[in-house]
Amino acid sequence: MGKIITNIEELVGHTPLFEFVNYEEKNDIKAKILGKLEYFNPSGSVKDRAALNMIKAAEKNGILKPGDTIVENTSGNTGIGLAAFSASRGYKLTVFLEPGQSEERQKMLRAYGANLKSMFDVPGVPEALTNGTFTTQFYQDAIQAYCDSQPTKHYFINQLANEANPGIHYETTGPEIWEDADGKVDILVATSGTAGTITGLSKYFREKNPDIKIIAVQADPTSRPGGSENPQTLDGTAPFGDPGFPDEAKAPFIVGFDYDECIDIKGEDAYAVGRELARTDGVFLGQSAAAALLAATIVGKRSENAGKNIVVILADNGMKYLSTNMYPLDVKVQ
Ligand SMILES: Cc1ncc(COP(=O)(O)O)c(C=O)c1O
Repeated sequence: MGKIITNIEELVGHTPLFEFVNYEEKNDIKAKILGKLEYFNPSGSVKDRAALNMIKAAEKNGILKPGDTIVENTSGNTGIGLAAFSASRGYKLTVFLEPGQSEERQKMLRAYGANLKSMFDVPGVPEALTNGTFTTQFYQDAIQAYCDSQPTKHYFINQLANEANPGIHYETTGPEIWEDADGKVDILVATSGTAGTITGLSKYFREKNPDIKIIAVQADPTSRPGGSENPQTLDGTAPFGDPGFPDEAKAPFIVGFDYDECIDIKGEDAYAVGRELARTDGVFLGQSAAAALLAATIVGKRSENAGKNIVVILADNGMKYLSTNMYPLDVKVQ
């Protein structure tokens, strides 16, 4: 029987779980590295799941009606997902971007018809950044105040505090992985932006396998956007695991975030692993995905993990990073 779809929403989820057999062999990894290829989602990233679920939750609660404006602050992928589903569902979308987002992300947002603004356009934010009172909570409150002051309905969807964000990974991503891996998931590796993915998945997998190890990945302090002069940063990752990091600056706000181990990854090391996988298995990763793969490699090489299934969440592919120095033309391949 033929199958014709009529809505991009039918393309969300059911992404492939891919064992990187060539990469394992080349790196002498005795564990199985199973990559969840989230770039198969329709706008190209794991965030399609949360974006669609947050819109559906707001509609179900009577908060959103077609013609309304959705507002979000985003490092890019959530905005792109929201932009795609806003287009198909008849909403307007305004996104506040932090500085330094890749050109591709901004152009994609525009292509879907989103209204792009800078975080400096949120009233009160430039002053708070200058006088040192800026916190994530302040930013959320400032965006809410912006929405409240608009003459038409503006809904701040706020992925940082929206339960529909981790919820969709508990409902869909986790069960998909469990089924494809035949119920053998020993270790989960994921980066954390809002921590929606890792929170929903850790809840699901801990129920299924109490012995599971959850490995959270963050950028090394030298590779954090805005935090250094290093041009090799890791887009889509937020720091969370540093002792002494002030609570109000820490991601995530998502309730229930937990992990067994945190691994810091340097941008340049992640980029090299991303370039390697493209050559070994023909899979083209984005920055956070490459960082997650490197963390999975570190864990997979530990002798106690031989024969274990390590699932690694690969948030997006390399297409949005072509203007960065992750994939230069004169790349040196090991
Ligand atoms: C490229 C990329 N990787 C990873 C993540 C992390 O996803 P989450 O927000 O579910 O932690 C995001 C989004 O925040 C992202 O854009």
